[in-house]
Amino acid sequence: MNTVLSRANSLFAFSLSVMAALTFGCFITTAFKDRTVPVDVRVSKVMLRNVDDFTGPRERSDLGFITFDLSADPIKTLEPIFDWNVKQLFLYLSAEYTTKSNSLNQVVLWDKIVLRGENNKLNLRNTKSKYFFFDDGNGLRANKNITLTLSWNVVPNAGILPLVAGSGYTSLPFPDKYETPKSY
Ligand SMILES: *[C@@H]1O[C@H](CO)[C@@H](O)[C@H](O)[C@H]1NC(C)=O
Repeated sequence: MNTVLSRANSLFAFSLSVMAALTFGCFITTAFKDRTVPVDVRVSKVMLRNVDDFTGPRERSDLGFITFDLSADPIKTLEPIFDWNVKQLFLYLSAEYTTKSNSLNQVVLWDKIVLRGENNKLNLRNTKSKYFFFDDGNGLRANKNITLTLSWNVVPNAGILPLVAGSGYTSLPFPDKYETPKSY
């Protein structure tokens, strides 16, 4: 009975339970933590273009260019979100707006991965959007309410993957004219 093999087996089973318990502990101690921080989103400049669209039925679509400021407010860092169960954050800035054809449009304009142990500063000035802000029609021109929000996915070491919206957003009207930069 008391062979090397059965000892190894029970040792293995025991370590496995210990590891499972630790993983669960890592998850449960952080599962209900609030991972919101206040965010300050500001738009300094918007420019609209009307460009050829080869994907849709329409011939020309609206394309927006946004310059923005973004910071964790007022601390300028995402440090409070990090703890021992956060491997990385996936930040993304999205624009939401309503058009005649869709009651909700969502476009991701910019994103960033922040690794644990890396520089967690969030204090951007005059940053240009990283992805094209395309509308599938002419819904951007003279739109009265375009809302920009910063959200983040928390990628944990163990457990669920929560999606958090930063508290703080900005809403702004878009220009009435193409090719004329508008400052805010
Ligand atoms: C703009 O849209 C956002 C949501 O997309 C809404 O919360 C806000 O009240 C709207 N603002 C105005 C002035 O309509």
